Amino acid sequence: MKQAKCIVNKHFKIADIDRRIYGSFIEHMGRAVYTGIYEPEHAMADEQGFRQDVLKAVRDLNVPIVRYPGGNFVSGYDWKDGIGPKTDRPKRLDYAWLAIETNQFGINEFADWVKKAHSEGMIAVNLGTGTPQEAGYLAEYCNVPSGTYWSDKRREHGYEQPHCFQVWCLGNEMDGSWQTGGLSAEDYAKKARETAKILKWVDPSVELVACGSSSKEMATFPDWDRTVLETCYPYIDYISLHRYYEYEGNTANFLAAFYDLDNLIHTLKATADYVKAKHRSDKVMMLSLDEWNVWYIKHMDIKRWQWAPAIAEDVYSLMDALVVGGLLTTIVNNADRVKMACLAQLVNALAPIHTAVDGGVLKHTTYYPFQQVSRYARGGVFKSMLLCDDIDTPKYGRVPGLATLSTFDEVNRTFAFFVLNTNLDDEVELVLQLEQFGDLQMLEQQVLMGDELLAVNSFDAPEQVIPRAKMVSGEIGQEFTITLAKASWTMIRFEQV
Ligand code: AHR
Repeated sequence: MKQAKCIVNKHFKIADIDRRIYGSFIEHMGRAVYTGIYEPEHAMADEQGFRQDVLKAVRDLNVPIVRYPGGNFVSGYDWKDGIGPKTDRPKRLDYAWLAIETNQFGINEFADWVKKAHSEGMIAVNLGTGTPQEAGYLAEYCNVPSGTYWSDKRREHGYEQPHCFQVWCLGNEMDGSWQTGGLSAEDYAKKARETAKILKWVDPSVELVACGSSSKEMATFPDWDRTVLETCYPYIDYISLHRYYEYEGNTANFLAAFYDLDNLIHTLKATADYVKAKHRSDKVMMLSLDEWNVWYIKHMDIKRWQWAPAIAEDVYSLMDALVVGGLLTTIVNNADRVKMACLAQLVNALAPIHTAVDGGVLKHTTYYPFQQVSRYARGGVFKSMLLCDDIDTPKYGRVPGLATLSTFDEVNRTFAFFVLNTNLDDEVELVLQLEQFGDLQMLEQQVLMGDELLAVNSFDAPEQVIPRAKMVSGEIGQEFTITLAKASWTMIRFEQV
């Protein structure tokens, strides 16, 4: 058995955690909306056609913010198609996913749905085929109380009160050749800046996210980010980053995704801080990791011009859930700069929640580590000083064999610890030394593990891969010794006594 030690001291707080780092994403993609969250013919649909079984699964996941309506979809989308009487709404070709968009679900339906999901919306505007002016009209429609053309239109449509969306994304992945109306960094930066000005004029309280690079593999990374920041710095509040991982045959590489994401975050922070210095600005640019997940993009099979096609319906394994756990440790450990993050996506399309048309809801393996972290990693995040063996990975070199996350919630006086053990053949005996938190009593320990890393959940075996409770002795103290199973994800919660 390998040995490791983790020291956490209450004096070394990284940041208070902004709950919006536990966000997610609903795009008009595949069956995320139609036959996902919205299926009026379903027995569980409410009077608005929202599936209540899906809403429950979303609420139980504790997702405080949901990005909408894309993604790639937004860059060819006219939001005006999705308002007013449903019978008058046009059917359109969606260029992003080569699908038929019926527009039966639009911005007002989303506003209602997200409220029922106990969440808030993060709205992306179309900066592909769309203009800054149309983005301004959307903000006017959503956020201005009354007395103007678009705000009164909203009232005419049955929404007396404004939706008051707080967070707005200035386009999506505009550096991508796949993006409808993709732009050069210079052209995007100017368009984003002009849109930002309008959105802040319409509603000075909004927070704005500009598009950073869509991935660090782009040839333009990180120059794109620098250019966008140089032009937009005074006008925006966040720069975005997106990151997806998939298993490519090497488990060590895949489980080390948490390490790669950490490097990416540091590069973007450095880029932003360079521009901050150039601008002689006091403002620290925050990061919005508004798309992240495991995504088997190579398995995508797009059949043209279908309505609600089943695309990107990845069935996640135990191994994928371990990767998601590791990525969550990185995200929360960077909570001083990463203020928003969205697990992409939420329902059916690369998602933790899967629905059967006219059938039930299935929680994929990735649902569980996300739920644990979003439910229990609250309050402050603290530096985990970790001593453990490295693992040799072909892709990233030597990487720590464990990824840890330590949080303390002053309100409930609970300490939550999360750890990914990426050692495939070795258990690890971990000494957890918790300093300055007073005496703690272990409340629970939950472990996600199994002999078969490729095991999945299915409608026949929906709980094949879920966290299992381990017996806890109830010991009280400041130092605890825990045995971590090989290739496992563990959550341990303590209460101050
Ligand atoms: O989340 C799926 C897609 O991934 C989004 O539409 C796009 O922004 C990204 O490339």
